[in-house]
Amino acid sequence: MSDPWAALADAFVDGAYATVKGRVRTYVLHRQLLRHLPEPPATVLDVGGGAAHQSLPLARLGYRVTVLDSSEAMLAKARQRVAAEPADVQHRVRFVLAEGENAAEATGATFDVVLCHGVLMYLDRPEPMIAALARCVAPGGLLSIMALNAHTLAVRPALERRWTDALAAFTATTEIGVLGAPTRADTVDHLSTLLTSHAITPAAWYGVWLFSDWQDLPVQDTDVEAVAAVELEASLRDPYRAMSRVFHLVGHHA
Ligand SMILES: C[S@@+](CC[C@H](N)C(=O)[O-])C[C@H]1O[C@@H](n2cnc3c(N)ncnc32)[C@H](O)[C@@H]1O
Repeated sequence: MSDPWAALADAFVDGAYATVKGRVRTYVLHRQLLRHLPEPPATVLDVGGGAAHQSLPLARLGYRVTVLDSSEAMLAKARQRVAAEPADVQHRVRFVLAEGENAAEATGATFDVVLCHGVLMYLDRPEPMIAALARCVAPGGLLSIMALNAHTLAVRPALERRWTDALAAFTATTEIGVLGAPTRADTVDHLSTLLTSHAITPAAWYGVWLFSDWQDLPVQDTDVEAVAAVELEASLRDPYRAMSRVFHLVGHHA
């Protein structure tokens, strides 16, 4: 089976996550999730979980985590990172190689929490994945989605002074993402409607990055904790959250 993520795995795991922006992303999403998560040892399915950046911190807190991904290269990164953890954390994580669209069949279970962060943007349409995610959420469980924000696509080309691209971006729904792959954007409204049609009631939505997305902050000379604290506050409130390049939407199964 071809693995388009094999070529991107190093850039994403060792590149993007090593930046201030990468660290802010993990911190802000984690803090937002803590507002909604049930107590450990609840079960968590991380669909398109990649190198488990979001779900490994949950395993450390006592959650029982399943990392599901269609890329063997990304799962290899996840296995490597989990192998460096204490034995009790390792025992709480398992890995499944499968398409997210087949997650229910591949895992044969439902979960208290289902995460799908940074995946919808790589799919042609969100509908099949949203339907699959909803099938994996146990009654009363939580679904957490992070997607590219269609309302802010003009920001990046404008900051890069690509004015023709910026003008086109106001009506665009796709762009070449930071990893160089084509990406597709969603809106909070449309995904909320889709969730509702699968008996998931939207509970909250947040921004993720703002200032660290707009500036290339050097890791060495940056107080990452201070930036993350500012980004978290921005992500929680208007008008800042609406300006984020990505959004985080959470909902509960009826
Ligand atoms: C940008 S990474 C995000 C990884 C992780 N969710 C995170 O937030 O760090 C996107 C991941 O989605 C995976 N992916 C893309 N399409 C998928 C699909 N249809 N089913 C399962 N995984 C998929 C890729 O292999 C990759 O690991």
